[in-house]
Amino acid sequence: MKNRLLVTAALPYANGYIHLGHIAGAYLPADIFVRFKRLCDEEIIFVCGSDEHGTAIEISAMKESVSPKEIIDRYHFANKDAFDKLGISFDIYSRTSNEIHHKTSQDFFLNLFDKDLLIQKTEKQLYSEKDKRFLADRFVEGTCPVCGYEEARGDQCESCGSNLTPLELKNPKSKISGDTPVVKESMNFFFPLEAFQPKLEEWIKGKANWKSNVKNYCEGWFKTGLKDRAITRDLDWGVKVPVKNTEGKVIYVWFEAPIGYISATKELFIQRGTPEKWSEYWCEEDTRMIHFIGKDNIIFHAIVFPAMLMAHGGFVLAENIPANEFLNLDGAKLSKSKGHGILVKDVVESFNPDVVRYSVASNMPENKDSDFSWEDLQAKNNNELAAILGNFINRTVVFAKSKFDNKIPTRVSKEIPEIFSYIKSQMKIIEECYNNYKFRDALNETMNIARAANKYFNDSEPWKVIKSDEAKCGEIINDCLQIAHSLAIAVSPVIPFTSDKILKVLGKDTTDFKWEKIGELVLLGGTELGENEILFPQIELPAAKEEETVVAEDNLIAIDDFKKVKLATAIVINAEAVPKSKKLLKLKVKCGSKEKQIIAGIAEHYSAEQMLNKTVVIVDNLKPAKLMGLESQGMLLAAKIDGKLKVISVDGEIADGADVS
Ligand code: MF3
Ligand code: ZN
Repeated sequence: MKNRLLVTAALPYANGYIHLGHIAGAYLPADIFVRFKRLCDEEIIFVCGSDEHGTAIEISAMKESVSPKEIIDRYHFANKDAFDKLGISFDIYSRTSNEIHHKTSQDFFLNLFDKDLLIQKTEKQLYSEKDKRFLADRFVEGTCPVCGYEEARGDQCESCGSNLTPLELKNPKSKISGDTPVVKESMNFFFPLEAFQPKLEEWIKGKANWKSNVKNYCEGWFKTGLKDRAITRDLDWGVKVPVKNTEGKVIYVWFEAPIGYISATKELFIQRGTPEKWSEYWCEEDTRMIHFIGKDNIIFHAIVFPAMLMAHGGFVLAENIPANEFLNLDGAKLSKSKGHGILVKDVVESFNPDVVRYSVASNMPENKDSDFSWEDLQAKNNNELAAILGNFINRTVVFAKSKFDNKIPTRVSKEIPEIFSYIKSQMKIIEECYNNYKFRDALNETMNIARAANKYFNDSEPWKVIKSDEAKCGEIINDCLQIAHSLAIAVSPVIPFTSDKILKVLGKDTTDFKWEKIGELVLLGGTELGENEILFPQIELPAAKEEETVVAEDNLIAIDDFKKVKLATAIVINAEAVPKSKKLLKLKVKCGSKEKQIIAGIAEHYSAEQMLNKTVVIVDNLKPAKLMGLESQGMLLAAKIDGKLKVISVDGEIADGADVS
């Protein structure tokens, strides 16, 4: 049976950069789930986009003296790009400033308005004559009536934590102009949430497979009793209230943002040329809608949005909301509002995105807050990805390349070893984990396949067998390559870039790239293998202690690998010490007609003066890297003996700019 799955991930605010906390909370689990389901050939869409309204965005704009549009453009495109580089495979990454979203949320609002469901209430609010506007919570500052803190915000006192309303503040001041506001009445629309409590309770009661953190949270709200909620605000920036005589009012951001999931779906199918199809996903009862969110969004996705959908009618409700807890960075909460965290856009510049995905996935805060650290990322790379998965693929491929003429050896016997039925049973176990949103377990069970694969290689001893029985050895290597293909599928939800690389080296297209093909023999003997590459080079962290690194058993590289390295002679034309660094020298070298900056770790062995005018050998085609903030556009060769470093130089023998090979 095919499922129609509608997967959403919380729309991030376009007023800050996405960080690893967001990734762990919602986007990575969503992406892993979606990639798994796509492999199972299910009908699925994955929608997301930027949440571009709300006072926080207006405030950022004000602080920088730019328009809100400038803020949202900056973060929308940066975040879209960061998601992309991390392999978060949305079918669409839309934005709530789009026309189609304004229209969709206004229509939604009108549907409720026309049915007389919305309550109009006139309330006292702070108004600034000088700013000519009502001052929303975040636009007022004043003295906290509870603790006397003088810079309390209109919604909350950051000093004592009390929840406040702007009217409770003593000596309120406008954050825009410093003006002292007056009290003025204003009408706003309210959503009758209280009336929906019985229906919501009934609905959630039937959700046996929801995570307990989500259910408990909702039960807490029910116990306190749901209250009607204001769904309009006196603001400029946002979706205009589509009702007469409401100038200066917009729909509250938390009312329209989730409707963004609907707008994004509409936009997706317009792009695909089947504009009507959005309603299949939103209106047909057999759609399974799943919201991936962080725990701070539970109330809106498990209570408010479902109530809105119920009130509107004709829409599916969420089947599940597997909200995650928080990811802490070395114990401190990774939170955008606190201004620290690890930004995805930076992380993907320095690390293989798959290593980041793997390390976040293995620390996923599924049931409780969890911790992230660079040391852990390094350990996951070196001790798991490289030592287990990378090692198996590498030793298998290197063996096939050198002993079987770079081809997949052909099987002679029809016997299929035990390990393939083990892999099939693992496939079922992993499936079960994904279907229950247990991503950490899924990853561990996946790596168990790679562990078993290494054991199979070891126990089969192909390096011995080859001496007596080449055909038998060919079969072992064929087995291992087939297992590598199974691994390529099994790991792909978590580390998709690596999965692609494995397929390439196996010389295999995507015809058998399906979940059900895990544990099956799909590679043809005689197929030429692709280029081998080390999947997970060891990661050295700048400040980390030097650790013994795990060396793959077979450390051979092909001549082609070596040919990739472009070596050249270059003369040092400038050299200086790098401030605050014991190890680094900043060199400028001339290599024929070009000049390069190289940051070399040789300062403990050479002074700047000693390096000047030396003709050295450099790696010319190294990807530029930053060391202590300085760009290094290559490296120079040096030999180490008894702890002493000697730079390879060809002084007086060869001019700069010569190719070395
Ligand atoms: N922008 C909100 C946040 O970052 C999430 C909005 S989710 C949506 O917390 F459903 F409202 F879109
Ligand atoms: Zn206070």
